[in-house]
Amino acid sequence: QDLEKGTYEHYMLKEMEEQPAVIRRILSKYLDEHGNLTISKEVLDQLKASDRIYIVACGTSYHAGLVGKKLFETLTHIPTEVHIASEFGYHMPLLTKSPFFIFLSQSGETADSRQVLVQVADRYPTLTMTNTPGSTLSREASHTLLLHAGPEIAVASTKAYTAQLAVLAILANVLGQSLQNELALSFDLAHELSLVASGLEEVMAEKGQFEELAKEVISDQAHAFYIGRGLDYYVALEAALKLKEISYVHCEGYAAGELKHGPIALIENETPVIALLTEASTLDHTRGNMKEVESRGARVISLVSEQYATEQDTIVLPKVHSLLTPLITVLPTQYLAYYTSLNRGLDVDKPRNLAKSVTVE
Ligand code: G6P
Repeated sequence: QDLEKGTYEHYMLKEMEEQPAVIRRILSKYLDEHGNLTISKEVLDQLKASDRIYIVACGTSYHAGLVGKKLFETLTHIPTEVHIASEFGYHMPLLTKSPFFIFLSQSGETADSRQVLVQVADRYPTLTMTNTPGSTLSREASHTLLLHAGPEIAVASTKAYTAQLAVLAILANVLGQSLQNELALSFDLAHELSLVASGLEEVMAEKGQFEELAKEVISDQAHAFYIGRGLDYYVALEAALKLKEISYVHCEGYAAGELKHGPIALIENETPVIALLTEASTLDHTRGNMKEVESRGARVISLVSEQYATEQDTIVLPKVHSLLTPLITVLPTQYLAYYTSLNRGLDVDKPRNLAKSVTVE
């Protein structure tokens, strides 16, 4: 396995930097000979017949599911709920008449998710989106969509997250097109995903700045916050999880507007607050939230799409389609977690108390 690391010091860094290649590979796997993204007719027909999509997952895959909700609701107008598997299994909400279940699982072996699948598989159509062909969740669901991310060895999931976002976008857009959704019909997703891949390479070329920020702003702190709204909030949740997992810095991902309703009490001198800004309609409000914490002593880092960047912003990110921003914003947060872990002298690839795949409930 060490050989597979090539010139990289850690699997996590290698897997992070494979993300552009993973997106291109996903495109090659899902494009047909006419250059159209395709999903099997059977999956599309069952989804079209459903009145609600239920996405069930754990950990990083759950965070990918949150982005999936936005994609499905925007591109298909099918209401979509996202649930943590360990909650859903024992406290199931009232289901609609014709639910369609999507299980997101890198490993395809997570016991919490399987336990839900076992309960619903006989009654409803199910699809597992996984990186692992032949895995338990893949075998036991009616359908499988593969992530094609290649083996993910670092415990902290990186490329599987972006792969899930890309495959969810493909499924949502192909479904939307077959439902004659106008936005889906005009969305050249293959082209937009290839722009994402190049955008990720631009971010990678500037990784030194994340190494610097991790050292200057985060590594000596006990607590940190990621804030954002909409898709940026969902990425904030994933970013905070990543920082916790491998650097042991306690970090919360918070809806930017909710900070003032409680957690702002925790802001002290030097508390890092990392703001994600990719959405025009909420930009000013989030900038206001940044000022609120700055005036209470926080060290604010902003990660902003280039079309909204000002002189004061810390990191400017390449512009991509507004539904695909999580694929770009997540990479700087992975770098910040990675370098913080290194600065603290920790085992990046094998953090304490965590397992790559959790097969107990
Ligand atoms: C474990 C891993 C996480 C992962 C979660 C769900 O807790 O440490 O990185 O996100 O399981 O795993 P899955 O394979 O179902 O995506």
